[in-house]
Amino acid sequence: MSKKFYLETYGCQMNVHDSEKANFSLSGSGYEQTSDPLDADLILLNTCMVREKAARKVYSRIAELKHQRRELKRDSAAVFGVMGCVAQAEAERLFERSSDIRLVMGTQAISKLPQLIEQLDQGFPRAIDVHLSKDADFYEINADVRQTTHIAYITITEGCNKFCSFCIVPYTRGRERSRPAEKIIQEAKSLALQGFKEVHLLGQNVNSYGLSGRYRGSLPGVGGTARGTEELTTFAHLLERLAVESGLPRIKYTTSHPRDFDEEIVRVMDSHDNLCEWVHLPAQSGSDRVLRAMRRGYTRREYIEKIDSIKRARKDLSITGDIIVGFPGETDDDFNQTLSMVAEVGYDGLYIFKYSPRPHTPAAAYIDSVTEEVKTERFMKLNELQHRIQKDRYSRYLGRKVEVLVEGVSARSSSDVVGHTRCNKVINFPGAVDLVGNLAAVKVTEIKPNSLYGSLS
Ligand code: SAH
Ligand code: SF4
Ligand code: F3S
Repeated sequence: MSKKFYLETYGCQMNVHDSEKANFSLSGSGYEQTSDPLDADLILLNTCMVREKAARKVYSRIAELKHQRRELKRDSAAVFGVMGCVAQAEAERLFERSSDIRLVMGTQAISKLPQLIEQLDQGFPRAIDVHLSKDADFYEINADVRQTTHIAYITITEGCNKFCSFCIVPYTRGRERSRPAEKIIQEAKSLALQGFKEVHLLGQNVNSYGLSGRYRGSLPGVGGTARGTEELTTFAHLLERLAVESGLPRIKYTTSHPRDFDEEIVRVMDSHDNLCEWVHLPAQSGSDRVLRAMRRGYTRREYIEKIDSIKRARKDLSITGDIIVGFPGETDDDFNQTLSMVAEVGYDGLYIFKYSPRPHTPAAAYIDSVTEEVKTERFMKLNELQHRIQKDRYSRYLGRKVEVLVEGVSARSSSDVVGHTRCNKVINFPGAVDLVGNLAAVKVTEIKPNSLYGSLS
């Protein structure tokens, strides 16, 4: 009988995609996936560390699962494994924190998973691989082993070289590397052939595709030779090739970084119908002083100039962003600058985070002068402002016909289906289950705080 593994995923889309890769790796070594943690021989948690709350979750979840298994007297056999960003950053410390953890696998070790498990099978008490290499290869998986349905993820870059002063990602994901363009195009084509209607190109900074890492120097016009055999290009060029060559109806990408976002990207988006009308461009703050302390590498004015270039597009592009409130030393005046910038941009969606000090990062050593109460107050104030802006932004869709990728039956009503628009908004509408997986033309009839409602047109 084959052994069973249970895999739980936290964090960003990159982690979701890494879980698909781990699933593929385990399936190749005789393991079968189960959706019941109480039935598993191996319980893997794919973890996130971007804020403290996410990191703490690992230990509470392990304790919870242990408890449930003990109640059912299934205490003996399961091995607990931690992968993802907490595994990378905490490494051996995880073994000290919980004696139940026997496997620790860093963000570049997914291909080593079978060997690590083999070590445990041979009787080693613990197995760990947290090696980070600046030119690690990308883990390749086939189109037909995706866990996601209808939407598929494609890695284009991994890691980050920006080292914003608050962020742990460069320490957990290592140096930025760009995946060879030919591999990306090949994967996109085979996903299209499998019937996927939409892909999301993934990277911490998709716009710096080809600009850093092991293939530096291979850019046309920059000179030098690539160490790999395949050509790399700029992000805009990659996007254009995917639009023309992939055969995919809908292409989205995330995350963009203001420093590397350029007008050429907007031009390419304007030129191809299968490039969707959505840009996620996090600002983090509207105050130049805070942006400097965050080491973001742009000013508020430069950010607004990028936003203006998006607004000048022929297509109606929807813009979303991220903001951190309560960064060390953020004054009322700094926060007011964030409020005014958010109003000036007019985001279609905004993720707001309270600053959380992270180990290894420079900002963790800054004097955290903003109290929890003030952080909460600022969070609520910004949230309320965004709420009003969003209502206004969403109302422009009223009466419009939008293209929806239907992803499932609505959680709220079994006679409704739910999906995303090309501008990445959630939309519900009355429809039958056989629409799932298809593109539908829907007329927007109603707006809700965080979604649209419509009817088939
Ligand atoms: N590469 C992306 C961000 C990835 S992390 C970018 O540069 O935009 C996702 C979001 O988490 C960030 O945009 C930021 O808003 C938030 N975040 C990261 N570190 C944080 C911290 N220490 N405290 C609070 N929010 C944080
Ligand atoms: Fe973190 Fe900054 Fe890199 Fe984004 S660009 S992942 S915020 S260090
Ligand atoms: Fe979290 Fe790592 Fe993603 S810290 S947000 S899982 S890159």
